[in-house]
Amino acid sequence: MSNSLLIMNNSSMENIFNINMNVFVGSDVIVRRSYAEAIELLKNIVNINLIITVDKIGDVEVAKALHTWLGENKVETALIILTKDKGYELYGTVIDPELDIKDIIAICAKLLGISQKEMNRDIISEFYAIPTFYFSLLETCCCDIFRRSSGSGEPGDAVYFKVFDANKKLDKNEIEKLMKSNMKSLYVLTGMRKKFVNYFTEKIIKKMKEAQTEDKKFQSLEGAREVIAHQIQKYGITEDTVKIADTAVAETFKAISNISDFKNFIKFISTNASSYIFKHSQIATYISYHIIDHMEWGTSEQKQKLTFVTFFHDIVFTDDKLAKIHGQEELNHADLDKSEKDLILRHAVLAAEITQKYPRYPMGADIIIKQHHGTYNGIGFNQSPGTDLSPLTAVFMIAEEFSRILLDNQSITVEKIIEKLKVFFPKHHKFETAIETLKEKSLKI
Ligand SMILES: [Fe+2]
Ligand SMILES: [Fe+2]
Repeated sequence: MSNSLLIMNNSSMENIFNINMNVFVGSDVIVRRSYAEAIELLKNIVNINLIITVDKIGDVEVAKALHTWLGENKVETALIILTKDKGYELYGTVIDPELDIKDIIAICAKLLGISQKEMNRDIISEFYAIPTFYFSLLETCCCDIFRRSSGSGEPGDAVYFKVFDANKKLDKNEIEKLMKSNMKSLYVLTGMRKKFVNYFTEKIIKKMKEAQTEDKKFQSLEGAREVIAHQIQKYGITEDTVKIADTAVAETFKAISNISDFKNFIKFISTNASSYIFKHSQIATYISYHIIDHMEWGTSEQKQKLTFVTFFHDIVFTDDKLAKIHGQEELNHADLDKSEKDLILRHAVLAAEITQKYPRYPMGADIIIKQHHGTYNGIGFNQSPGTDLSPLTAVFMIAEEFSRILLDNQSITVEKIIEKLKVFFPKHHKFETAIETLKEKSLKI
């Protein structure tokens, strides 16, 4: 087993590297979140076989500084720099971080001297990492669950302890504690991986379908959303993702259609859901139904289409703080790294591309998703959306903006929201008639 040092400050990327380097390349990944921490490690541990770093962390030119340090200390470890800036080729092997993760891992493997043939082996590590939050969604598990400890701290010295037994009730408090202590992954035996995936998919679906109370139903939908976002980020659209997402969309349609009191729903979703992404999607779904119900041309099929759209429009985000940004100005001032900013700028087009790979997606859902921030190519934000966007795109954009304004200030009145919507959207009947429907008494909050 080789050791790779990963220097970045982006936990979702860390996870992806960790799992893929482990499974496909058989390399243990040690993460350091700053240049200083990385140097501290390099000074003390000699057998690092590969260093993967972002170009900068905050203002620190990590890649350049590392290149200098390696040279001065005559360390010949290969250095990979994740950046779009070709100028860094002077300092190491540059990889565009937007490349498919499989291609990035293939380059890492090559630098570690691992052949394509070896990478294709089915089982490399005895233990397979599963995100800890997956277990928080289960009552029991079909196989034993392990946690990984780095042992003495030396790389390659990891040991695995069984923490939960197969088929016994899972201790939710314990899982919660592990999540709070930032333990991102737990492990199952690699040989059990397929069995686990099938079991997990089946349980998640069952949970959504059979939830007896409203809070259980929305909790299960929120969990499913998180699972789908994670699976898409890691594997793209898979058979299991589709199974879970199909159920989640159908159950969301039923659940939102059953809501009779908007005011209570807002209160309910604010207290029962934890993620902003989920809350804002659910409120947007409700508002889009309300508008469609009041349109002459509105049909149930359109409501189903918009349910799919709300579910997938921000699916590339697993982090609430990225999903909250909704304008160029805000993005410019946000304290985020370049890859996060790029993701925000491109999230609509990326989500549309994912949708196009989804079997039997509702016709036109991909276009609405691509244009949901008002740009035709799905990149960036349009502060004055065009009047030639489709009527359904207009409905979705209004619903989403309504939801955003409401979650920003929950003591706001609907009248005030309508005023803001009228300022933001163009004076065109497509937008005006939809906004007009929001004056309905049933929406009072
Ligand atoms: Fe959104
Ligand atoms: Fe968005």
